[in-house]
Amino acid sequence: MAGAAPLYRILQSQGFGSRRECRALIGAGQIRIAGDAVLDAERLYPLEGLAVNVAGIDWRCRSRVHVALHKPAGYECSRTPRDHPSVYALLPAHLVRRGVQCVGRLDQDTTGLLLFSDDGALLHRLTSPRHHVDKTYDVYCRHEVSDAMLAALRTGVVLRDDPAPVAAHACIRLDSHALRLTLDSGRYHQVKRMLAAVGNRVEALHRRAIGAYPLPDDLAPGQWRLLDDDTLDVLVQPAATMLKATASATSMPSTAADRMPPA
Ligand code: URA
Repeated sequence: MAGAAPLYRILQSQGFGSRRECRALIGAGQIRIAGDAVLDAERLYPLEGLAVNVAGIDWRCRSRVHVALHKPAGYECSRTPRDHPSVYALLPAHLVRRGVQCVGRLDQDTTGLLLFSDDGALLHRLTSPRHHVDKTYDVYCRHEVSDAMLAALRTGVVLRDDPAPVAAHACIRLDSHALRLTLDSGRYHQVKRMLAAVGNRVEALHRRAIGAYPLPDDLAPGQWRLLDDDTLDVLVQPAATMLKATASATSMPSTAADRMPPA
């Protein structure tokens, strides 16, 4: 069978355990395909799209996996977190085990769209400074957002310890203390440092889109979703016009808005 692999190897590639553990799962009747337990670990199947049930978990096998997570506040983008739980703890063990990595990092107190993938080429495409992938943030500020601040963010600000000015690709006011910012670069704490450079301070930060792919409305904080290949193209398209033009303060996530200081 062209492109086929033994079942135990397929399960191993999907993160369900070591070679030995996968063989043991098969031997124990824990793997079902089309409703039937498969007991032959060497039996050949095509990997891509194979629908398996692994100890009660339904899974469609894929050679590469991409995941969108709605990151809640209080999670670190690290496999070895220091002060808070890891975002990897929000994913199923088999995805972590197969080696998905965060696409860039969000601060522990930042909420919103975080991607994971085990596709090195995609990780590079989305994070390399040469590719200028848009990231759109809603920013809740301590001080009022003035016209001068918006203008400075659009034309470029100089960050401390970094002489090259950085400009927002797009920047609009959402309300007196909130703005929406699209960046096509990704420096360390970039949004917080840009707001500090214009004399304001970030109280809450929420990433609402990567490229033209918005955080899905029905993905609650802490929930994740697999992305299909069509979505990958959307990730590298410029931020959709709707993100720039139809912003409204009512779209603030309650978690971030709740952390705003009282007016
Ligand atoms: N910029 C920041 O300052 N923090 C983030 O988490 C993301 C962008």
